[in-house]
Amino acid sequence: MNAPTASLAGLDLRAEIDRLRKERNAVILAHYYQKPEIQDIADFVGDSLELSRKAAETDADVIAFCGVRFMAETAKILSPQKTVILPDMDAGCSLEDSCPPDKFKAFRAAHPDHIALTYINCSAEVKALSDIIVTSSSAEKILSQIPPEQKIIFGPDKHLGGYLSRKFGREMLLWPGVCIVHEAFSETELLKLKAQHPDAPVAAHPECPPHVLDHADMVGSTSAILEFAKTTPHDTVIVATEPHIIHQMEKAVPEKTFIGAPGADGNCNCNICPYMALNTMEKLYIALRDLEPKIELDEEMRLAAKKSLDRMLEMASATVGKGDLGARD
Ligand code: 13P
Ligand code: SF4
Repeated sequence: MNAPTASLAGLDLRAEIDRLRKERNAVILAHYYQKPEIQDIADFVGDSLELSRKAAETDADVIAFCGVRFMAETAKILSPQKTVILPDMDAGCSLEDSCPPDKFKAFRAAHPDHIALTYINCSAEVKALSDIIVTSSSAEKILSQIPPEQKIIFGPDKHLGGYLSRKFGREMLLWPGVCIVHEAFSETELLKLKAQHPDAPVAAHPECPPHVLDHADMVGSTSAILEFAKTTPHDTVIVATEPHIIHQMEKAVPEKTFIGAPGADGNCNCNICPYMALNTMEKLYIALRDLEPKIELDEEMRLAAKKSLDRMLEMASATVGKGDLGARD
């Protein structure tokens, strides 16, 4: 059981986390949706694909994963000999919740001629029931390598699946899950914001619903959105993804202005991921101190899940023929 946070009063958490990181030979990995203080203390901040690659490559003994549970599970699947800790084990994901393994298994059984191309935002059990995992930054490249006649189930994010379907002109059977964070952006409020900033492009994550993507000037993963923010000649950008990523944008290009796309109340705060927000500096310190909470997985299930993740890592790094990507807008 972790010590209560109140007993940590007076501790220099940054210094203590640093000390424990060295003592434990730990690496701290953080997603762009983490609080700024966590991003700033991490050894590496990235999107889901980059974090999976880091977790597979690291020679640290401990991976302190500042993200959500499916990300920490992915690290454990790829690096089973390492201790993987997650500051708050309740850091889940609405997409994972939408896709219980027994229902997914039954859905697959009902469509035996389809392969399961599955978004990484799912449980380890669902990964074990899938053929190939994708992230938002690898999905297009991976889909382009699957023969056109192959039938596909895509889950659990119907918006990412729908976006890929439209972009590739390719029908897929979509699992009906959504990200509650991206689902909360308001088209009406976005149009009002665009009217106030007519020159500002909108950069959106493909987890957004189509009525938001319809107004986007670019659609991509968190790392692609960050790259766009850095390189666009525009000095103001409207960001339609979880607003904590703006921290990296402001660090990289402080002279530009980044505005979080609003929710229905005209405010972007309702788009903070409640699961990601469960991680705090206090909980990170306790996790490094106690090496708890840690991820443990059934070995047979882990090996099955590793197959679909390895497939992703291979296909995401493959050299794809010219013409396989792009030109599908
Ligand atoms: P990426 O960082 O891979 O774009 O994923 C976004 C996300 O919603 C993670 O939960
Ligand atoms: Fe899940 Fe959405 Fe939070 Fe990402 S932002 S962890 S997809 S609920």
